[in-house]
Amino acid sequence: MSGTVLIVDDEENARHNITQFLVGSGYETIGAGTMEEARKILQQGAADVILLDIQLPDGYGPNLLIETASLPSRPPIILITAYGDIEIAVDAMKNGAFDFLQKPLNLIQVKQSVQRAMENVAMRRELAHLRQSQQSDLAFIIGSSPQMHQLLDAARRAAEASVSVLITGETGTGKEVLARAIYSVSPRSKSPFMDINCAAIQSTVLESELFGYEAGAFTSAEKRKLGLMEVADGGILFLDEISSMPLDIQAKLLRAIEEQAFRRVGGTNLIRVDVQVLAASNRSLPRLMEEGKFREDLYYRLKVLDLHVPPLRERKQDIPDLVGFFIRRNNQKMGMNVCDVTPPAMDALMAHNWPGNIRELRNVIERAMLFCDDAAIDLPHLPADLY
Ligand SMILES: Nc1ncnc2c1ncn2[C@@H]1O[C@H](COP(=O)(O)OP(=O)(O)OP(=O)(O)O)[C@@H](O)[C@H]1O
Ligand SMILES: [Mg+2]
Repeated sequence: MSGTVLIVDDEENARHNITQFLVGSGYETIGAGTMEEARKILQQGAADVILLDIQLPDGYGPNLLIETASLPSRPPIILITAYGDIEIAVDAMKNGAFDFLQKPLNLIQVKQSVQRAMENVAMRRELAHLRQSQQSDLAFIIGSSPQMHQLLDAARRAAEASVSVLITGETGTGKEVLARAIYSVSPRSKSPFMDINCAAIQSTVLESELFGYEAGAFTSAEKRKLGLMEVADGGILFLDEISSMPLDIQAKLLRAIEEQAFRRVGGTNLIRVDVQVLAASNRSLPRLMEEGKFREDLYYRLKVLDLHVPPLRERKQDIPDLVGFFIRRNNQKMGMNVCDVTPPAMDALMAHNWPGNIRELRNVIERAMLFCDDAAIDLPHLPADLY
């Protein structure tokens, strides 16, 4: 990850050494010898991350933290403290410093801290972009692993081609997130996205939920009710946990998809719609087919495109991004100020097998943040089975 680091230090030698090292690591740098110079550069918005010395000729470095506190996009500030200046460091962290490093500087630590700060910046920008585009955070998919890239490519194609899609994957891998992502990039996103969890609805109600009913279709049917298929016209119908759909409704669904038409329960009129169907399952449909519980024809009709969301343990390189995302999101939601994970805690997160996948990771981070009191997430904040 690249970006520009503003190095605020009045000692030219120190500035030079840090500059050389950071440039060698792929960053751009700007030097400032005084608070005044630093302020100017900040005003120009030229710095992504700031390395800040404490004693400057024209002032006390940490004052910059207070001066910039209300800026909407203040760059993360890493304070350089003298050895033993713990009080200053603690104060600075309270005032929103991103990190502090002690002199004599260990350049490897400088680089690690800058790198984390840059990641933090990237995350903030992503979030800002997200808010701007007014997508819900469900439509926002985190993951830069090759597996996720491939998946998102396929999702884009599914959106463009407007074909039926079967989304498979273990529980908590993000199947629903993917379905909403397909919708958000689809030309259909101006029309409704309707979803129904086939496992959460009584099978007797499922049919009328999907296809609607006419007044008088059954005793409690006083008025005509439109089904999801009809409401989703022009848009997308997402059938979650499709494995729980009873066989007779499977047959009706198959016909509705093939003909893009159906009848309301108790109705005779054929209703024509234009609906893209996405279905998800965390159970093996081929196995259910063998057991006679899922229709083979419907299976092949749904999986025109088959999107498999890989379990988290097969794409562990996404873990740091996801952790960062959940921390940012919870900071916002819970008004917290957690900004880091200690290396041993990150090691434990990387080593875990994540049977509950991203949902489990989300819960672990949420819990850790409740325990860590605005400090970095550390090993003791994680559930005991992680280490
Ligand atoms: N790529 C991702 N980026 C950010 N958050 C994600 C991602 N994938 C999943 N999540 C989050 O993980 C949780 C589980 O995701 P989701 O509900 O989509 O899983 P699922 O595959 O539908 O699980 P199940 O089979 O149990 O229904 C949600 O809180 C979701 O927001
Ligand atoms: Mg789901």
